[in-house]
Amino acid sequence: MMGVLGYDVVNVGPNDLLYGLETLEETAAKSGFKLVSSNILRKSTGKHLFDPYVIQEMAGFKVAFLGVVRENARLQSATKETDDFAVADVEESLKEIIPKVREKADLVVLFSHLGSRTSQKLVDEIDGIDVAFNGGDPLVNSRPFEVGNEEVGFSLVCSAGDRGKYMGALRLVVSEHGDILRHTHELHALDKNVPENEEMRARLNDFKEQLREVKKRERVESVVGQETAGPKEKFLGASVCGRCHESAYESWRESSHAHSLASLEGKSMEQSGDCLQCHVTGHKDPGGYSVNKTDLAMVTCEQCHGYGTLHGSDGFVARPTVESCKTCHDTENSPHFDYASYWETIAH
Ligand code: HEC
Ligand code: HEC
Ligand code: HEC
Ligand code: HEC
Repeated sequence: MMGVLGYDVVNVGPNDLLYGLETLEETAAKSGFKLVSSNILRKSTGKHLFDPYVIQEMAGFKVAFLGVVRENARLQSATKETDDFAVADVEESLKEIIPKVREKADLVVLFSHLGSRTSQKLVDEIDGIDVAFNGGDPLVNSRPFEVGNEEVGFSLVCSAGDRGKYMGALRLVVSEHGDILRHTHELHALDKNVPENEEMRARLNDFKEQLREVKKRERVESVVGQETAGPKEKFLGASVCGRCHESAYESWRESSHAHSLASLEGKSMEQSGDCLQCHVTGHKDPGGYSVNKTDLAMVTCEQCHGYGTLHGSDGFVARPTVESCKTCHDTENSPHFDYASYWETIAH
């Protein structure tokens, strides 16, 4: 998404390593933005994990971008490799890098995850930062905060807000020597007055859809105790199975699985998702039970055997496991559950 938004440089934050270094680097390369971090290191080598600064040519000026995270930041990651990552002291890191960077760049911009107050203090204490953007914090100042005085010059500290709620624009008038003469700053809240970008909306919808499918599949899998295929599959209803499996169907018809919604109705709980998850078929699964699908309003064959459309394929559950019974017959709802005797009651 950052690629679509046209980001050039991204300061690596504590959550960006969640899916591992490789994934992050691949994403950046594919989306065409650069990753920067001036204080995330590899413990084993003591070297920076990412470029400690990135220089971009902008309107004829060389602009250096640096980025820091809090020293106590916990780098979130699903992979073990984070054990080898460390966050170095912010001031020390910057004091080492900035003099080098100043030789090569006209302007120095710092992306900070330190919080607005700390960012202001930092910019005040460390020479050579022209502009700091503070992110990851709820918006504190909508206008840039000027640090410094006439003599040493001013630095600007801007708040970017958090979670992409704002879009900012900072325009600088810069002298030949790289001094900021004037600035204009705008911050737009990306609220409902801003029309949606179609491509972004499509991507977001795609993502949400995928997430939903994954969740649903996980639930089907947990119930049938086996992997099932994707969301294109359909429940057919017990009477369809009954056309060929007559005796199994008769046996099932007489079992209490075939009347399990009635138990909820008896308690006026037939609307409760909490109860429905065990008392109907495919509650919350693609194509599963809804109020008008009366043929799924009970624990049907497919709740145990999986989607009928998988019949005959590897994804179909020929022999549901004891574990699959226990997803519903748990100690709370079925304290006397004993597979052998229970199976005998519903054997088919
Ligand atoms: C058109 C007839 C027909 C329908 C409809 C049908 N089945 Fe079958 N089913 C069969 C036949 C024939 C076999 C045995 C041949 C085989 O191994 O596939 C079978 C096998 C099975 C098996 C054993 C699978 C194995 O690999 O041992 C199960 C379980 C099963 N069916 C359940 C169902 C369920 C649940 C439905 C409803 C969603 C259903 N069947 C619908 C004809 C049918
Ligand atoms: C999707 C949830 C679910 C799964 C999976 C499930 N059951 Fe049930 N079972 C129920 C519910 C709900 C009832 C109570 C039905 C009612 O009367 O409302 C029930 C009732 C029963 C009963 C009747 C108990 C009684 O005496 O009242 C038996 C026997 C039984 N299940 C056996 C099994 C066996 C064996 C398995 C595994 C092969 C299994 N069930 C898997 C939900 C499930
Ligand atoms: C985790 C699965 C699960 C959930 C959630 C669940 N039930 Fe059940 N329920 C069962 C099972 C399994 C049985 C059968 C117990 C047995 O016979 O051992 C059962 C049995 C019953 C029975 C007794 C049926 C009879 O004839 O004896 C009633 C009533 C009932 N449930 C109502 C509810 C209500 C109301 C809720 C929601 C508050 C609910 N259940 C939530 C699994 C569940
Ligand atoms: C509560 C879960 C549950 C329900 C509901 C259920 N089954 Fe089964 N079914 C099983 C289990 C468990 C087995 C395997 C028993 C064994 O072999 O140990 C099985 C076995 C079968 C088999 C025999 C497979 C073989 O090759 O031996 C067929 C066919 C079958 N079921 C069809 C159906 C049909 C049709 C329905 C609905 C009318 C249905 N089942 C409902 C749990 C269920």
